[in-house]
Amino acid sequence: MAKITLDVNGKPHTIDADPDMPLLYALRNDIGLNNPKFGCGLAQCGACTVHLNGQPVRSCITPVSAVADAKVVTLAGLGTPEKPHPLQTAYIEEQVTQCGYCINGWIMTAAALLDRVKKPTDDQIKDALTGLKCRCATHMAIMRAVKRAAAMMG
Ligand code: FES
Ligand code: FES
Repeated sequence: MAKITLDVNGKPHTIDADPDMPLLYALRNDIGLNNPKFGCGLAQCGACTVHLNGQPVRSCITPVSAVADAKVVTLAGLGTPEKPHPLQTAYIEEQVTQCGYCINGWIMTAAALLDRVKKPTDDQIKDALTGLKCRCATHMAIMRAVKRAAAMMG
């Protein structure tokens, strides 16, 4: 066990943890942030995605010791109820969510894309989101929401 300080959504959190423990467990179990989800635990579904220094990473396979000097942002840190991220607004306006389990991964991955590319083409959106899974088959609504958010950020 080791004391590890994480910068999550702009706040420091010091936890006692096995350095090899996945970041996802620290976020959910030690810090109480339940927006990143445990889906596969094998970097296959994206439900656990968070931003590490602005890049989307799969927190289920990221050792907590590897992020001690990085800025971690979760879905809860992307926007607030008063000032939501355009993607959060677009997801509501497009009525994307069904069960909601996968949504964290899609929004965090799309948010990193929109930070990088202001007006992504359909192919750029599909490339960025490749590998994410939605068992409720909301893929068409997700495309609409990402494009709506891009237009809002325009
Ligand atoms: S839970 Fe991390 S990619 Fe599936
Ligand atoms: S909304 Fe249910 S898995 Fe995507």
